[in-house]
Amino acid sequence: VVLILCAAANSIVKASFEDEVDIKRSDFPDGFLFGAATSSYQVEGANLEDGRSLCNWDVFCHIKGSIANGDSADIAEDHYHRYMEDIEILHSLGVDAYRFSISWSRVLPSMHFLSPFERFHCSCFFLSWVVVFDKHTRDHGGGKFGGVNQAGILFYNKIIDSLLSRGAMPNDYLIQCFLLFKQIRFIADNSKFSAGIEPFVTIHHFDYPQELEDRYGGWLSHLMQEDFVHFAEICFQSFGDRVKYWCTINEPNLFSEFAYERGTYPPAHCSPPFGNCSTGNSDVEPLIAVHNMLLGHAKTVKIYRERFKSEQRGVVGIVVHSFMYKPLTEDKRDKEAADRALAFNIAWILDPVVFGDYPPEMRHYHGSELPKFASEERIILRDSTDFIGINHYATLYAKDCIYSSCICNDSSCTKGSDRAIRGFVYTAAERDGVPIGEPTGMARFFVVPRGMEEIVEYAKKRYLNKPMFVTENGYSSPLNKVEDYHHDVKRINYLKSYLAFLARAIRNGADVRGYFLWTLMDDFEWVNGYSVRFGIYRVDPQTLNRTPKLSASWFRNFLSNCSLNY
Ligand code: NOJ
Repeated sequence: VVLILCAAANSIVKASFEDEVDIKRSDFPDGFLFGAATSSYQVEGANLEDGRSLCNWDVFCHIKGSIANGDSADIAEDHYHRYMEDIEILHSLGVDAYRFSISWSRVLPSMHFLSPFERFHCSCFFLSWVVVFDKHTRDHGGGKFGGVNQAGILFYNKIIDSLLSRGAMPNDYLIQCFLLFKQIRFIADNSKFSAGIEPFVTIHHFDYPQELEDRYGGWLSHLMQEDFVHFAEICFQSFGDRVKYWCTINEPNLFSEFAYERGTYPPAHCSPPFGNCSTGNSDVEPLIAVHNMLLGHAKTVKIYRERFKSEQRGVVGIVVHSFMYKPLTEDKRDKEAADRALAFNIAWILDPVVFGDYPPEMRHYHGSELPKFASEERIILRDSTDFIGINHYATLYAKDCIYSSCICNDSSCTKGSDRAIRGFVYTAAERDGVPIGEPTGMARFFVVPRGMEEIVEYAKKRYLNKPMFVTENGYSSPLNKVEDYHHDVKRINYLKSYLAFLARAIRNGADVRGYFLWTLMDDFEWVNGYSVRFGIYRVDPQTLNRTPKLSASWFRNFLSNCSLNY
């Protein structure tokens, strides 16, 4: 009966959109995690509720001209109040895992949020601490000696507990039976069993308390490393008994490029010719910010391994924004430019956490501008990631700008802004007038499915096939595309074709252990506000009601096929 029902459901979905790519869940290995992803700032809203302090993005959004259409995420998708509904949606989709992030300013707003009683208590009974506390407040943003906001902890506890208490598949009795068999096998294979949806938690996804920016300049200061480690420790202590997958920092490479080179993310630093402002130094600030993030990551992992791992038995990774780059021409110099583009983006983050130092290509081109790691820092960096998180959306052409004069003649050409971090490369979206792939709602996010296989191959070769997760992949449409309200066939085709290339990379030996679709619902897309939509659920801008798009039905169907194929 189940077979017939599923076959029928399959053919209905198949008949409703073009189905060029045949990809099934059974094309992926046993135990492979399928999930959906979000991040705290993009969905939660409730930015002033229950003791949360303002974060860098709250402040930035309210500076006129920062975000498209003057949007802000003060309310966002109101996930803070609707999380149960969203978890029901995840459950109904049949995902194995859910990737979300923790709002730093919700969990650790700062010492200013201690109640008067706590402050009194602190000064009277721990007089000897007062000096230390004051010094720490001055130097470290005040987080260390407390200030943990229990309402924030409670919120994430409720999310984690609700996820874990949900069955991993829709409530279909017979499918549950298949699932049970599958899970029994899974227990035997992996000696690990999670009854519900696995929480896959990112500790830091672009948002941090504004106070850290005001006090010492956020990631430009080495002080941020310790404050990040402290925040991470609180996460491990509070949630690590149930969370087994951690990502320390999301996309340090993209964040530092936008925040300190292009000036489009807070704190909006840039300097000519890279951006239209003179608030920073676009040559060196992205390098310093990443340096601090990498050390913050390595120190966090060290503490996890020393203090939490034996009891909590989790794994900790880092997530990198991963465009694939192809040479614009067959010229050897453009091929080298494409290699440099990969090294200056992906290896910039991953070489240090796998091998203990920056890629030689970067050292060669940046010379003394690139910060140096001390020998003890190299030791803690080396092998400081249990897995590599790959956020992959698109491929670009790369052209050499060292030997050739680079003339930007297409809209995605980012000459100039690429000098600081990409090793004199410019990127382009077309070759001889032929676009590299179909455009999407996001600038530079061209649809090039093969890029998924190529980027995974790149990471496999360079990092000796370290375990990987595709931590994000998805399709964006611009706001005015009415078909995206429901009939989002382009998104389905995007997902199917990228998954097919991912499956091929895995068949060829790549150790990829999971895939997270970006994103569960239309959300706040940073500087684009709500003008770009990645969701498989539509969120009505007025009512905030969630309605499934066709891609949600496709994903549900794709995931449920699995139980039949095991
Ligand atoms: C990667 C980021 O992690 C996520 O926050 C963002 O929404 C997507 N890319 C799409 O731009």
